[in-house]
Amino acid sequence: MNEKSPYIGLLPPQASTTAGPVDGLFWFLNVITIVFTLLVMAALVTFAVKYRRGARADRSNAPLENLPLEIAWTAIPLLLCFVIFGWGAVIFFHNSRAPKDAMNIYVVGKQWMWKVQQPTGRWEQNEIHVPVGVPVKLTMTSTDVLHDFFIPAFRLKADVIPGRYTSYWFEATKVGTYHLYCAEYCGTYHSKMGGTVIVQEKADYERWLRSGNVEPTRAAAGEKLFRQHGCSGCHGLNASVKAPLLDGIYGKQRALENGSFVTADDRYLRDSIYLPQKEVRAGFKPIMPTYKGRISEADVLQIIDYIKATGGGNHVSNASAGSGSGNPGNPNPYGTGDVGRDNISARSGIANPQGAGR
Ligand code: CUA
Repeated sequence: MNEKSPYIGLLPPQASTTAGPVDGLFWFLNVITIVFTLLVMAALVTFAVKYRRGARADRSNAPLENLPLEIAWTAIPLLLCFVIFGWGAVIFFHNSRAPKDAMNIYVVGKQWMWKVQQPTGRWEQNEIHVPVGVPVKLTMTSTDVLHDFFIPAFRLKADVIPGRYTSYWFEATKVGTYHLYCAEYCGTYHSKMGGTVIVQEKADYERWLRSGNVEPTRAAAGEKLFRQHGCSGCHGLNASVKAPLLDGIYGKQRALENGSFVTADDRYLRDSIYLPQKEVRAGFKPIMPTYKGRISEADVLQIIDYIKATGGGNHVSNASAGSGSGNPGNPNPYGTGDVGRDNISARSGIANPQGAGR
């Protein structure tokens, strides 16, 4: 809040790489609006005066049509609309696609507060600490109603929706403290649902991360939850119930029972926990119960982080590829591979015979 925008003080400070482009478009829209408003008003006043009742204006030979004029007032606004659309789309797509190396911060909205989790596992409430000059991706969801995570200084705002992940990314450009709002009416204390964005130098940010309670990383917390909730009882290597192994599946294509394919992303993993009947893996029975109401949104995010941490690489090891699926005697510790039970070739859609019939 300490610095004013280079513009005339109407806007909040610009503190992200997105702010400049968004303001550019904003001012373009304003200038167009002002120019055309003035043009219309000028014509209105001129003609109202010139042709007022009793004025001795020449009213003979009034033109009934003027093709070039009509083409002009159709084509110019159309062109301007395309420019606005294209410009807006470029900014929108840029904001939606986080760079690969972006650090991921989780945001969970609930009536009436924001819970934020850093990659190290540290939780914050109505505050979000970020390092300057580092791309940060927010993955957001709500536990109750629609909220909207709005950081004016970053010119970023997105609905936070129960049952869905929304996301945007930013790179803060200025150290400082900025406002954070909920920008969607969400009940009695909506107006109090806000907080502070704290942009720090990288070293300060890292110092802050290390201060306070030492918490398990998100992946470690997720692994604990994975066992606590009994997920490992079915999704583990030595499980008696045969469920798909989850090691290393993140980001990969999975074949579904209905013949389609899906990428195992955040959305898919979350839905598989809450709505397990929705997308059943090919070769498996829809026997998993829902964990809706038993695992919180915040915990689901950590479980996803754990699954991510088991690797996205190719886990199908050749060494034991013939040893039989789900071999109960398999001494493999966690993370060594999805042999046998989980090696449906995503591209060809051909199930490994060993995995069939589950
Ligand atoms: Cu949350 Cu308004």
